[in-house]
Amino acid sequence: MRAYRENESISLDDIIDECKTFYFVGQETTSMMLSWTSFLLALNPEWQEKIRLEILQLFRDRKRLTSEDFSAIAKLRKMTMVINESMRLYPPVLAIFRTVAQDCKVGNVLLPKGMQIQISTLVLHHNRNIWGEDAQLFLPERFAGNISGGDAFFPFGVGPRICVGQGLAMLEAKLALAMILQRYSFTRVQRL
Ligand code: HEM
Repeated sequence: MRAYRENESISLDDIIDECKTFYFVGQETTSMMLSWTSFLLALNPEWQEKIRLEILQLFRDRKRLTSEDFSAIAKLRKMTMVINESMRLYPPVLAIFRTVAQDCKVGNVLLPKGMQIQISTLVLHHNRNIWGEDAQLFLPERFAGNISGGDAFFPFGVGPRICVGQGLAMLEAKLALAMILQRYSFTRVQRL
């Protein structure tokens, strides 16, 4: 996609590119996040039970959730912890790419103009110096207080290009999980 220049209106190609971005990132990412979260809930039935209880306490036996429930969905704290931990372990976007716009220095590292940089979400989300020796384990309680890991947790990116769809993605995922967990359980298929 071309860089934005002042006084230049958006072209048809730009609009087509934006539509492609919305189409791709709006589907694949959220479905991946939901798949990994379901998998982790199947492996961790105690957390599955905790968030089912949270859903039942909030919505009782109302199985059909509507837009009226959106603000209540934000209150599903344990579910947010589980989704965050799922995205920490299995970030739907594995890395963020940037092209250096002008020569600059970050710490002691010189970055020449034109250089391609890859910032790996996956690597930083698993860094033991940041997350501790248990960095590989599924421990949603890490997210009980403020998001731990500081800048090292960025499933939706950071800065001016941060995901514009993050609120929608979280809402979609919570809504789907709330409706599924009211009716069904995730279990591991036992091999015969
Ligand atoms: C779990 C779900 C999602 C994840 C993990 C995710 C992750 C990301 C990340 C990491 C970026 C930043 C890329 C960069 O800095 O280069 C991004 C950008 C973007 N995301 Fe998402 N995303 C998700 C869902 C969505 C949804 C549902 C939509 C819209 C329907 C969406 C629309 C966008 C758009 C348009 C951008 C580009 C923003 C820009 O460049 O200014 N994303 N997303």
